[in-house]
Amino acid sequence: MPMFSRRTFLQGSAALGGAFALGAGVAARAVASPDPQILAAQFADVRIAADGVTPKIMTYGLDDAPHGGMPPVLRMRKGEAYAARLVNHLDEPTTVHWHGLRIANAMDGVPEITQPYVYPGDTFDYVFTPPDAGTFWYHPHCNTLTQIGRGLAGVVVVENPEDPVFDAEIVLNLRDWRLGAGGKFIDPFKPRDAARGGTYGTVRTTNWQRQPTIEGPAGGLVRVRIAATDVTRIYTLALEGAAAKVIALDGNPVEDPFPLDRIDIGPGQRVDLAVRMPESEGQGATLGNFRGSQPWAIATFRAAGTSLKRDLRDIAPLPANPIAEADLSTAKRIPIDLTATAEHKATASICGSLGYTFWAINKVPWPGDTPDPIAPIEELKLGRSYVLQISNRTPHAHPIHLHGLSFRILTSNKRSFLLPPTDTILLLPDEQAEVALVADNLGDWVIHCHIIEHQKTGMTGYFKVV
Ligand code: C2O
Ligand code: CU
Repeated sequence: MPMFSRRTFLQGSAALGGAFALGAGVAARAVASPDPQILAAQFADVRIAADGVTPKIMTYGLDDAPHGGMPPVLRMRKGEAYAARLVNHLDEPTTVHWHGLRIANAMDGVPEITQPYVYPGDTFDYVFTPPDAGTFWYHPHCNTLTQIGRGLAGVVVVENPEDPVFDAEIVLNLRDWRLGAGGKFIDPFKPRDAARGGTYGTVRTTNWQRQPTIEGPAGGLVRVRIAATDVTRIYTLALEGAAAKVIALDGNPVEDPFPLDRIDIGPGQRVDLAVRMPESEGQGATLGNFRGSQPWAIATFRAAGTSLKRDLRDIAPLPANPIAEADLSTAKRIPIDLTATAEHKATASICGSLGYTFWAINKVPWPGDTPDPIAPIEELKLGRSYVLQISNRTPHAHPIHLHGLSFRILTSNKRSFLLPPTDTILLLPDEQAEVALVADNLGDWVIHCHIIEHQKTGMTGYFKVV
Protein backbone atom coordinates (compact mmCIF):
# COMPACT_ATOMS: atom_id res chain seq x y z
CA MET A 1 0.00 0.00 0.00
CA PRO A 2 1.46 3.41 -0.89
CA MET A 3 2.29 5.76 2.00
CA PHE A 4 0.34 8.98 2.16
CA SER A 5 2.49 11.95 1.30
CA ARG A 6 1.70 15.21 3.06
CA ARG A 7 0.30 16.55 -0.18
CA THR A 8 -2.17 13.75 -0.82
CA PHE A 9 -3.16 13.85 2.84
CA LEU A 10 -4.04 17.53 2.54
CA GLN A 11 -6.01 16.90 -0.62
CA GLY A 12 -7.77 14.05 1.13
CA SER A 13 -8.81 16.18 4.08
CA ALA A 14 -9.97 18.98 1.80
CA ALA A 15 -12.18 16.49 0.01
CA LEU A 16 -13.46 15.24 3.35
CA GLY A 17 -14.32 18.81 4.39
CA GLY A 18 -16.53 19.06 1.33
CA ALA A 19 -18.14 15.67 1.93
CA PHE A 20 -21.72 16.91 1.72
CA ALA A 21 -21.19 18.71 -1.56
CA LEU A 22 -19.29 15.70 -2.93
CA GLY A 23 -22.01 13.28 -1.84
CA ALA A 24 -24.68 15.35 -3.53
CA GLY A 25 -22.63 15.50 -6.71
CA VAL A 26 -22.17 11.74 -6.87
CA ALA A 27 -25.88 11.15 -6.31
CA ALA A 28 -26.79 13.66 -9.00
CA ARG A 29 -24.47 12.00 -11.47
CA ALA A 30 -25.93 8.59 -10.73
CA VAL A 31 -29.49 9.64 -11.61
CA ALA A 32 -28.91 12.08 -14.44
CA SER A 33 -27.74 10.25 -17.53
CA PRO A 34 -26.12 12.25 -20.32
CA ASP A 35 -28.17 13.36 -23.31
CA PRO A 36 -28.48 10.35 -25.57
CA GLN A 37 -26.68 10.24 -28.87
CA ILE A 38 -29.23 9.35 -31.55
CA LEU A 39 -28.48 6.12 -33.41
CA ALA A 40 -30.95 6.01 -36.26
CA ALA A 41 -30.93 2.60 -37.98
CA GLN A 42 -31.96 3.25 -41.57
CA PHE A 43 -31.74 2.28 -45.22
CA ALA A 44 -29.44 4.06 -47.66
CA ASP A 45 -28.25 3.64 -51.24
CA VAL A 46 -24.46 3.64 -51.26
CA ARG A 47 -21.78 2.99 -53.85
CA ILE A 48 -19.70 0.06 -52.52
CA ALA A 49 -18.89 -1.98 -55.65
CA ALA A 50 -17.25 -0.51 -58.73
CA ASP A 51 -20.20 -1.27 -60.97
CA GLY A 52 -23.19 0.32 -59.29
CA VAL A 53 -24.92 1.80 -56.28
CA THR A 54 -26.14 -0.80 -53.77
CA PRO A 55 -29.76 -0.19 -52.82
CA LYS A 56 -31.05 -0.80 -49.29
CA ILE A 57 -27.82 -0.88 -47.43
CA MET A 58 -28.39 -0.62 -43.66
CA THR A 59 -26.52 1.97 -41.62
CA TYR A 60 -26.75 4.16 -38.52
CA GLY A 61 -26.94 7.95 -38.52
CA LEU A 62 -26.37 10.30 -35.59
CA ASP A 63 -29.59 12.24 -36.13
CA ASP A 64 -32.84 11.74 -37.95
CA ALA A 65 -31.48 13.10 -41.22
CA PRO A 66 -30.65 10.46 -43.85
CA HIS A 67 -27.07 9.21 -43.59
CA GLY A 68 -25.41 7.81 -46.67
CA GLY A 69 -22.18 6.38 -45.25
CA MET A 70 -20.60 3.97 -42.81
CA PRO A 71 -21.96 3.82 -39.24
CA PRO A 72 -20.11 6.45 -37.21
CA VAL A 73 -17.24 5.65 -34.86
CA LEU A 74 -18.78 6.12 -31.41
CA ARG A 75 -16.52 7.68 -28.79
CA MET A 76 -16.97 7.11 -25.09
CA ARG A 77 -14.81 7.54 -22.03
CA LYS A 78 -13.76 4.87 -19.60
CA GLY A 79 -15.69 5.25 -16.34
CA GLU A 80 -18.06 7.91 -17.71
CA ALA A 81 -21.76 7.40 -18.43
CA TYR A 82 -22.75 7.16 -22.09
CA ALA A 83 -26.23 7.15 -23.58
CA ALA A 84 -27.56 6.27 -27.02
CA ARG A 85 -31.14 6.20 -28.29
CA LEU A 86 -31.69 3.56 -30.97
CA VAL A 87 -34.36 4.78 -33.40
CA ASN A 88 -35.55 2.05 -35.75
CA HIS A 89 -36.25 3.33 -39.27
CA LEU A 90 -35.82 -0.15 -40.77
CA ASP A 91 -38.72 -2.41 -41.75
CA GLU A 92 -37.88 -5.15 -39.24
CA PRO A 93 -37.06 -5.39 -35.51
CA THR A 94 -33.51 -4.65 -34.37
CA THR A 95 -31.37 -4.02 -31.25
CA VAL A 96 -27.83 -2.84 -30.50
CA HIS A 97 -25.21 -5.05 -28.88
CA TRP A 98 -22.04 -3.38 -27.56
CA HIS A 99 -19.46 -6.00 -28.42
CA GLY A 100 -16.77 -6.37 -25.74
CA LEU A 101 -18.17 -3.79 -23.30
CA ARG A 102 -18.68 -5.25 -19.83
CA ILE A 103 -21.87 -3.35 -19.06
CA ALA A 104 -25.16 -4.13 -17.27
CA ASN A 105 -27.07 -7.08 -18.71
CA ALA A 106 -30.17 -5.00 -19.51
CA MET A 107 -28.04 -2.92 -21.93
CA ASP A 108 -26.55 -5.91 -23.77
CA GLY A 109 -28.96 -5.87 -26.71
CA VAL A 110 -29.96 -9.53 -27.03
CA PRO A 111 -33.69 -9.88 -27.81
CA GLU A 112 -35.69 -12.23 -25.59
CA ILE A 113 -32.65 -12.67 -23.31
CA THR A 114 -31.90 -9.10 -22.17
CA GLN A 115 -34.40 -6.76 -23.86
CA PRO A 116 -37.53 -6.54 -26.02
CA TYR A 117 -37.36 -6.30 -29.80
CA VAL A 118 -37.24 -2.73 -31.06
CA TYR A 119 -39.91 -2.71 -33.76
CA PRO A 120 -39.94 -0.36 -36.75
CA GLY A 121 -40.77 3.16 -35.55
CA ASP A 122 -39.81 2.34 -31.96
CA THR A 123 -36.87 3.49 -29.88
CA PHE A 124 -34.75 1.99 -27.12
CA ASP A 125 -32.49 3.90 -24.73
CA TYR A 126 -29.10 2.45 -23.89
CA VAL A 127 -27.29 3.98 -20.88
CA PHE A 128 -24.11 2.51 -19.47
CA THR A 129 -20.63 3.26 -18.18
CA PRO A 130 -17.83 1.46 -20.02
CA PRO A 131 -15.41 0.05 -17.44
CA ASP A 132 -12.62 -0.65 -19.93
CA ALA A 133 -10.81 1.54 -22.46
CA GLY A 134 -9.99 0.27 -25.92
CA THR A 135 -11.38 -0.61 -29.34
CA PHE A 136 -14.79 -2.28 -29.38
CA TRP A 137 -17.74 -2.32 -31.78
CA TYR A 138 -21.52 -2.23 -32.01
CA HIS A 139 -23.99 -4.18 -34.11
CA PRO A 140 -27.56 -5.54 -33.96
CA HIS A 141 -28.36 -8.87 -32.31
CA CYS A 142 -31.46 -9.53 -34.41
CA ASN A 143 -31.54 -11.08 -37.90
CA THR A 144 -27.81 -10.60 -37.70
CA LEU A 145 -26.71 -12.19 -40.95
CA THR A 146 -28.90 -9.75 -42.87
CA GLN A 147 -28.46 -6.71 -40.65
CA ILE A 148 -24.68 -6.92 -40.08
CA GLY A 149 -24.21 -8.24 -43.61
CA ARG A 150 -26.04 -5.22 -45.03
CA GLY A 151 -23.94 -2.70 -43.09
CA LEU A 152 -24.95 -2.39 -39.43
CA ALA A 153 -21.53 -2.63 -37.78
CA GLY A 154 -19.65 0.34 -36.34
CA VAL A 155 -16.55 0.83 -34.23
CA VAL A 156 -16.60 1.98 -30.59
CA VAL A 157 -13.57 3.79 -29.19
CA VAL A 158 -13.46 4.01 -25.41
CA GLU A 159 -10.91 6.65 -24.56
CA ASN A 160 -8.79 6.74 -21.46
CA PRO A 161 -7.32 10.11 -20.51
CA GLU A 162 -4.30 8.16 -19.22
CA ASP A 163 -3.50 6.61 -22.60
CA PRO A 164 -0.24 7.71 -24.23
CA VAL A 165 -0.73 10.49 -26.77
CA PHE A 166 -0.24 9.67 -30.45
CA ASP A 167 0.30 12.08 -33.34
CA ALA A 168 -2.82 10.76 -35.08
CA GLU A 169 -5.40 8.00 -34.96
CA ILE A 170 -6.78 5.88 -37.80
CA VAL A 171 -9.83 3.67 -37.25
CA LEU A 172 -10.40 0.82 -39.71
CA ASN A 173 -13.66 -1.10 -40.04
CA LEU A 174 -12.92 -4.22 -42.13
CA ARG A 175 -15.76 -6.02 -43.86
CA ASP A 176 -16.97 -7.67 -47.03
CA TRP A 177 -20.25 -7.44 -48.91
CA ARG A 178 -22.22 -10.09 -50.81
CA LEU A 179 -22.87 -8.10 -53.97
CA GLY A 180 -23.55 -9.24 -57.53
CA ALA A 181 -23.98 -7.51 -60.86
CA GLY A 182 -24.66 -3.78 -60.61
CA GLY A 183 -23.84 -3.79 -56.89
CA LYS A 184 -27.10 -5.52 -55.86
CA PHE A 185 -27.17 -7.75 -52.78
CA ILE A 186 -27.10 -11.48 -53.49
CA ASP A 187 -28.10 -14.33 -51.12
CA PRO A 188 -26.38 -13.68 -47.79
CA PHE A 189 -25.14 -17.28 -47.51
CA LYS A 190 -24.86 -20.67 -49.16
CA PRO A 191 -26.03 -23.56 -46.98
CA ARG A 192 -23.08 -25.79 -47.97
CA ASP A 193 -20.68 -23.05 -46.85
CA ALA A 194 -22.62 -22.30 -43.65
CA ALA A 195 -22.03 -25.98 -42.78
CA ARG A 196 -18.29 -25.40 -43.30
CA GLY A 197 -16.18 -22.26 -42.78
CA GLY A 198 -18.88 -19.75 -43.75
CA THR A 199 -19.83 -17.86 -46.91
CA TYR A 200 -17.44 -15.15 -48.07
CA GLY A 201 -18.40 -11.77 -49.45
CA THR A 202 -17.64 -10.73 -53.00
CA VAL A 203 -16.48 -7.14 -52.37
CA ARG A 204 -13.90 -6.39 -49.66
CA THR A 205 -13.87 -3.00 -47.99
CA THR A 206 -12.10 -0.90 -45.38
CA ASN A 207 -14.31 1.88 -43.98
CA TRP A 208 -16.74 1.00 -46.79
CA GLN A 209 -14.12 1.82 -49.43
CA ARG A 210 -12.12 -0.51 -51.64
CA GLN A 211 -8.42 -0.27 -50.70
CA PRO A 212 -8.45 3.30 -49.41
CA THR A 213 -5.37 5.48 -48.99
CA ILE A 214 -5.32 7.25 -45.65
CA GLU A 215 -2.92 10.06 -44.71
CA GLY A 216 -0.85 10.16 -41.55
CA PRO A 217 1.90 12.52 -40.36
CA ALA A 218 5.29 11.63 -41.88
CA GLY A 219 7.63 10.19 -39.27
CA GLY A 220 4.79 10.30 -36.73
CA LEU A 221 3.29 7.70 -34.43
CA VAL A 222 -0.22 6.69 -35.37
CA ARG A 223 -2.60 4.56 -33.33
CA VAL A 224 -4.36 2.32 -35.81
CA ARG A 225 -7.50 0.69 -34.42
CA ILE A 226 -8.64 -2.25 -36.55
CA ALA A 227 -11.98 -4.01 -36.10
CA ALA A 228 -12.88 -7.15 -38.07
CA THR A 229 -16.63 -6.70 -38.39
CA ASP A 230 -17.15 -9.05 -41.32
CA VAL A 231 -19.60 -11.90 -40.78
CA THR A 232 -17.19 -14.59 -42.03
CA ARG A 233 -13.65 -13.55 -42.93
CA ILE A 234 -10.58 -14.32 -40.80
CA TYR A 235 -7.72 -11.95 -41.62
CA THR A 236 -3.97 -12.45 -41.38
CA LEU A 237 -2.69 -8.89 -41.05
CA ALA A 238 0.78 -7.61 -41.83
CA LEU A 239 2.18 -4.17 -42.59
CA GLU A 240 4.74 -3.49 -45.31
CA GLY A 241 6.69 -0.24 -45.55
CA ALA A 242 6.56 0.85 -41.90
CA ALA A 243 7.35 -0.54 -38.47
CA ALA A 244 4.49 -1.29 -36.10
CA LYS A 245 3.89 -2.73 -32.68
CA VAL A 246 0.82 -4.56 -31.42
CA ILE A 247 -0.36 -2.56 -28.40
CA ALA A 248 -3.82 -4.01 -27.72
CA LEU A 249 -5.87 -7.05 -28.70
CA ASP A 250 -9.66 -7.18 -28.46
CA GLY A 251 -9.63 -3.90 -26.55
CA ASN A 252 -7.17 -4.99 -23.91
CA PRO A 253 -3.61 -3.64 -23.70
CA VAL A 254 -0.73 -5.99 -24.46
CA GLU A 255 1.53 -5.87 -21.40
CA ASP A 256 4.67 -5.97 -23.48
CA PRO A 257 3.93 -4.54 -26.95
CA PHE A 258 5.58 -6.69 -29.63
CA PRO A 259 6.54 -5.94 -33.24
CA LEU A 260 3.82 -6.75 -35.74
CA ASP A 261 4.80 -9.65 -37.93
CA ARG A 262 1.60 -11.41 -38.92
CA ILE A 263 -1.46 -11.59 -36.76
CA ASP A 264 -4.74 -13.47 -37.24
CA ILE A 265 -8.02 -11.84 -36.31
CA GLY A 266 -11.42 -13.43 -36.74
CA PRO A 267 -14.88 -11.86 -37.01
CA GLY A 268 -15.53 -9.73 -33.93
CA GLN A 269 -11.88 -9.27 -33.00
CA ARG A 270 -9.83 -6.06 -32.84
CA VAL A 271 -6.16 -5.16 -32.90
CA ASP A 272 -4.57 -1.82 -32.02
CA LEU A 273 -1.24 -0.96 -33.60
CA ALA A 274 1.30 1.75 -32.96
CA VAL A 275 2.55 2.53 -36.46
CA ARG A 276 5.62 4.64 -37.16
CA MET A 277 4.77 6.39 -40.43
CA PRO A 278 7.36 6.47 -43.24
CA GLU A 279 9.86 9.29 -43.11
CA SER A 280 9.05 11.40 -46.15
CA GLU A 281 6.00 12.97 -47.75
CA GLY A 282 4.28 10.68 -50.23
CA GLN A 283 5.82 7.42 -48.98
CA GLY A 284 3.31 4.69 -48.29
CA ALA A 285 2.94 1.68 -46.02
CA THR A 286 0.46 -1.04 -46.90
CA LEU A 287 -1.66 -3.01 -44.49
CA GLY A 288 -2.41 -6.31 -46.17
CA ASN A 289 -4.28 -9.55 -45.70
CA PHE A 290 -1.88 -12.46 -46.11
CA ARG A 291 -4.31 -15.28 -45.50
CA GLY A 292 -4.65 -17.63 -48.46
CA SER A 293 -2.50 -17.67 -51.54
CA GLN A 294 -3.31 -14.18 -52.89
CA PRO A 295 -2.36 -11.37 -50.49
CA TRP A 296 -4.29 -8.14 -51.01
CA ALA A 297 -4.15 -4.58 -49.71
CA ILE A 298 -6.55 -3.58 -46.96
CA ALA A 299 -5.41 0.07 -46.84
CA THR A 300 -2.40 2.22 -47.61
CA PHE A 301 -1.10 4.75 -45.11
CA ARG A 302 0.47 7.70 -46.92
CA ALA A 303 2.95 9.96 -45.14
CA ALA A 304 2.13 13.68 -45.26
CA GLY A 305 4.15 16.74 -44.22
CA THR A 306 7.67 17.02 -42.87
CA SER A 307 8.89 14.25 -40.61
CA LEU A 308 7.99 14.39 -36.93
CA LYS A 309 11.08 12.18 -36.36
CA ARG A 310 9.34 10.03 -33.79
CA ASP A 311 10.44 6.63 -32.53
CA LEU A 312 8.24 3.64 -31.67
CA ARG A 313 10.07 3.45 -28.35
CA ASP A 314 8.55 6.85 -27.43
CA ILE A 315 5.21 5.19 -26.72
CA ALA A 316 4.60 3.79 -23.23
CA PRO A 317 2.43 0.65 -22.92
CA LEU A 318 -1.29 1.34 -22.42
CA PRO A 319 -2.60 1.12 -18.84
CA ALA A 320 -4.33 -2.21 -18.15
CA ASN A 321 -8.11 -2.54 -17.86
CA PRO A 322 -9.57 -3.54 -14.46
CA ILE A 323 -10.37 -7.18 -15.28
CA ALA A 324 -10.42 -9.52 -12.29
CA GLU A 325 -8.01 -12.46 -12.27
CA ALA A 326 -9.65 -15.85 -11.78
CA ASP A 327 -8.74 -17.86 -8.71
CA LEU A 328 -7.59 -21.10 -10.32
CA SER A 329 -7.41 -22.99 -7.03
CA THR A 330 -11.18 -22.75 -6.56
CA ALA A 331 -12.34 -22.39 -10.17
CA LYS A 332 -15.01 -24.79 -11.35
CA ARG A 333 -14.32 -26.42 -14.72
CA ILE A 334 -17.01 -26.33 -17.42
CA PRO A 335 -16.59 -28.30 -20.65
CA ILE A 336 -17.79 -26.55 -23.80
CA ASP A 337 -17.87 -28.83 -26.84
CA LEU A 338 -18.31 -27.33 -30.28
CA THR A 339 -19.58 -29.85 -32.78
CA ALA A 340 -21.46 -30.23 -36.02
CA THR A 341 -24.92 -31.70 -35.61
CA ALA A 342 -27.00 -33.98 -37.77
CA GLU A 343 -30.21 -32.36 -36.52
CA HIS A 344 -31.21 -30.09 -39.39
CA LYS A 345 -34.54 -28.67 -38.28
CA ALA A 346 -34.91 -24.94 -37.67
CA THR A 347 -37.33 -22.83 -35.65
CA ALA A 348 -38.85 -19.67 -37.08
CA SER A 349 -37.98 -16.54 -35.13
CA ILE A 350 -38.87 -12.85 -35.07
CA CYS A 351 -35.16 -12.16 -35.48
CA GLY A 352 -34.85 -14.40 -38.52
CA SER A 353 -33.77 -17.98 -39.11
CA LEU A 354 -31.49 -19.29 -41.84
CA GLY A 355 -33.68 -22.40 -42.05
CA TYR A 356 -30.95 -24.86 -41.09
CA THR A 357 -29.21 -26.25 -38.02
CA PHE A 358 -25.61 -27.29 -38.58
CA TRP A 359 -23.87 -26.67 -35.22
CA ALA A 360 -24.23 -27.29 -31.50
CA ILE A 361 -22.69 -26.37 -28.16
CA ASN A 362 -22.54 -29.34 -25.75
CA LYS A 363 -24.73 -31.22 -28.24
CA VAL A 364 -27.53 -28.63 -27.97
CA PRO A 365 -28.20 -26.56 -31.09
CA TRP A 366 -29.52 -23.06 -30.34
CA PRO A 367 -33.13 -22.89 -31.52
CA GLY A 368 -33.02 -19.16 -32.34
CA ASP A 369 -34.29 -16.12 -30.44
CA THR A 370 -37.47 -17.61 -29.06
CA PRO A 371 -39.71 -16.51 -26.18
CA ASP A 372 -38.86 -19.67 -24.22
CA PRO A 373 -35.11 -20.09 -24.59
CA ILE A 374 -33.33 -23.32 -23.80
CA ALA A 375 -31.59 -23.78 -20.44
CA PRO A 376 -28.30 -21.99 -19.81
CA ILE A 377 -25.10 -23.95 -20.43
CA GLU A 378 -24.42 -23.45 -16.73
CA GLU A 379 -25.48 -21.25 -13.85
CA LEU A 380 -22.51 -19.24 -12.59
CA LYS A 381 -22.33 -17.82 -9.09
CA LEU A 382 -21.61 -14.11 -8.88
CA GLY A 383 -17.98 -13.51 -7.95
CA ARG A 384 -16.84 -17.13 -8.47
CA SER A 385 -14.06 -18.18 -10.83
CA TYR A 386 -14.57 -20.61 -13.71
CA VAL A 387 -12.45 -22.35 -16.30
CA LEU A 388 -14.15 -23.06 -19.60
CA GLN A 389 -12.61 -26.07 -21.31
CA ILE A 390 -13.49 -25.28 -24.90
CA SER A 391 -13.00 -28.05 -27.45
CA ASN A 392 -13.37 -27.33 -31.12
CA ARG A 393 -14.34 -30.75 -32.45
CA THR A 394 -14.65 -29.50 -36.02
CA PRO A 395 -12.15 -28.97 -38.84
CA HIS A 396 -13.08 -25.24 -39.05
CA ALA A 397 -11.98 -22.17 -37.10
CA HIS A 398 -14.58 -20.57 -34.82
CA PRO A 399 -14.24 -17.09 -33.25
CA ILE A 400 -16.11 -17.73 -29.99
CA HIS A 401 -17.46 -14.57 -28.33
CA LEU A 402 -18.75 -14.24 -24.78
CA HIS A 403 -20.87 -11.26 -23.80
CA GLY A 404 -20.44 -9.26 -20.59
CA LEU A 405 -17.46 -11.14 -19.11
CA SER A 406 -13.84 -11.06 -20.25
CA PHE A 407 -11.69 -14.17 -20.02
CA ARG A 408 -8.02 -15.07 -20.17
CA ILE A 409 -6.62 -17.92 -22.28
CA LEU A 410 -4.73 -20.28 -19.95
CA THR A 411 -3.74 -23.22 -22.14
CA SER A 412 -4.16 -24.45 -25.67
CA ASN A 413 -2.93 -27.39 -27.72
CA LYS A 414 -2.41 -25.00 -30.66
CA ARG A 415 -0.69 -21.89 -29.27
CA SER A 416 1.90 -21.02 -26.68
CA PHE A 417 2.04 -17.26 -26.21
CA LEU A 418 0.18 -15.32 -23.56
CA LEU A 419 -2.48 -12.86 -24.67
CA PRO A 420 -4.31 -10.20 -22.70
CA PRO A 421 -7.85 -10.93 -21.53
CA THR A 422 -10.41 -11.01 -24.32
CA ASP A 423 -14.08 -11.32 -25.23
CA THR A 424 -13.46 -13.42 -28.38
CA ILE A 425 -11.14 -16.38 -28.91
CA LEU A 426 -10.39 -17.48 -32.45
CA LEU A 427 -10.39 -21.25 -31.94
CA LEU A 428 -8.39 -23.02 -34.59
CA PRO A 429 -9.55 -26.31 -36.13
CA ASP A 430 -9.38 -29.05 -33.46
CA GLU A 431 -8.08 -26.58 -30.88
CA GLN A 432 -8.67 -27.31 -27.21
CA ALA A 433 -8.25 -24.31 -24.99
CA GLU A 434 -8.88 -23.53 -21.35
CA VAL A 435 -9.99 -20.00 -20.55
CA ALA A 436 -10.52 -18.51 -17.09
CA LEU A 437 -12.98 -15.88 -15.93
CA VAL A 438 -14.58 -14.38 -12.86
CA ALA A 439 -18.38 -14.29 -13.06
CA ASP A 440 -18.54 -10.70 -11.88
CA ASN A 441 -21.45 -9.42 -13.97
CA LEU A 442 -25.04 -10.49 -13.19
CA GLY A 443 -27.44 -11.71 -15.84
CA ASP A 444 -27.74 -13.89 -18.93
CA TRP A 445 -24.66 -13.72 -21.13
CA VAL A 446 -24.71 -15.18 -24.59
CA ILE A 447 -21.75 -17.12 -25.97
CA HIS A 448 -21.61 -17.80 -29.70
CA CYS A 449 -19.51 -18.16 -32.78
CA HIS A 450 -19.04 -14.82 -34.55
CA ILE A 451 -19.10 -16.41 -37.98
CA ILE A 452 -22.69 -15.30 -38.14
CA GLU A 453 -23.90 -18.28 -40.19
CA HIS A 454 -22.59 -20.52 -37.40
CA GLN A 455 -24.22 -18.34 -34.73
CA LYS A 456 -27.54 -18.50 -36.60
CA THR A 457 -27.41 -22.26 -37.32
CA GLY A 458 -26.89 -23.52 -33.79
CA MET A 459 -23.52 -22.42 -32.36
CA THR A 460 -24.99 -20.24 -29.59
CA GLY A 461 -25.74 -20.72 -25.90
CA TYR A 462 -25.68 -18.66 -22.71
CA PHE A 463 -24.55 -18.55 -19.11
CA LYS A 464 -26.69 -17.29 -16.29
CA VAL A 465 -24.81 -15.39 -13.58
CA VAL A 466 -26.86 -15.33 -10.35
CU1 C2O B 1 -20.52 -9.21 -31.56
CU2 C2O B 1 -23.22 -11.62 -29.69
O1 C2O B 1 -21.89 -10.42 -30.60
CU1 CU C 1 -18.08 -20.88 -36.08
